[in-house]
Amino acid sequence: MSVEKPDRNLAIEIVRVTEAAAMAAARWQGRGDKESGDQAAVDAMRTVLDTVDIAGTVVIGEGEKDEAPMLYNGERVGSGEAPEVDIAVDPIDGTRLLAEGRPGSLAVMAAAPAGTMFDPGPCVYMEKLVVGAEGAGVVDLDRSLAENLEAVAEAQDRQVTDLTVVMLDRDRHEDAKRQVREVGARLTLISDGDVEASIVAAWDDRPQVDMLYGIGGTPEGVITACAIKALDGIMLGRLWPRSDAERRAAVDAGYDLDAVLTADDLVAADDCFIACTGITQGNLLQGVRIDRRGATTESLVMRSKSGTVRSIRARHRLAKLREYASVTY
Ligand code: FBP
Repeated sequence: MSVEKPDRNLAIEIVRVTEAAAMAAARWQGRGDKESGDQAAVDAMRTVLDTVDIAGTVVIGEGEKDEAPMLYNGERVGSGEAPEVDIAVDPIDGTRLLAEGRPGSLAVMAAAPAGTMFDPGPCVYMEKLVVGAEGAGVVDLDRSLAENLEAVAEAQDRQVTDLTVVMLDRDRHEDAKRQVREVGARLTLISDGDVEASIVAAWDDRPQVDMLYGIGGTPEGVITACAIKALDGIMLGRLWPRSDAERRAAVDAGYDLDAVLTADDLVAADDCFIACTGITQGNLLQGVRIDRRGATTESLVMRSKSGTVRSIRARHRLAKLREYASVTY
């Protein structure tokens, strides 16, 4: 065992970035305008990110430089001071949730030592299975969802009918929904936001869900993996090409489409950091509340090395911030 002095916890700094994104985006709640909400979050995130002393490279961002003027893949962010880190951002996970004023949208950012985050390349989607720590050695993506549910129930000495699975409500999940119903487990369907749902599934502090299953975004998968490592949960993934062309592009680029990826494959570092802030009210976090005195945000701040999970509730005096902040709150 080596003994180290306490060192810097980057997550505590990056939470200011997600708070800013959430507060800026919250103005667009229910206004039916996905693009403006996303733009507000990106602008705020980008502005505050440069105050953080890191030499960061965005590896999971808003897309290629041609389409994304900010937070594009490959963009250098932060003050430029060491440490060199990979950055993954989702300024809003659940842009549609925010635009429609539905629960569950959040702003999220993760950081890990340079070169350790998985590059999804052409793969937009991946199959994901997330459970809590007690799922270690129990779940297996090569088995059916029904078998995995039976295995989790047995490992926890529970009835499978007492388990709750959360899944994105998509046509591609018809067979998975059928399997959940056939074993008699409870099913929660969500319209968007599998980062929030995965954290809820993995975190024993939120016992309402036992498993996330389904095909969702690969970028969201890499971000989720940072949280899963901090929460000691279990995440299994497999790339899921949408078409033959995407399959070919992935194989040509050297991706193994049969490989089962763990959280450690998605983020190959022992020390990764993640912060997320609720935008609309959710199962994981309170949404941004605005009252006479300002705004209140709720965030989670996690570090995988220590496994520390902090919940940060912050009051923001908007009148004061508006006097000097370059972010529009
Ligand atoms: P964005 O808000 O970033 O667009 O993502 C929302 C989301 O629901 C993710 O949580 C999920 O991984 C992905 O979209 C699923 O993709 P799709 O909507 O194409 O099925």
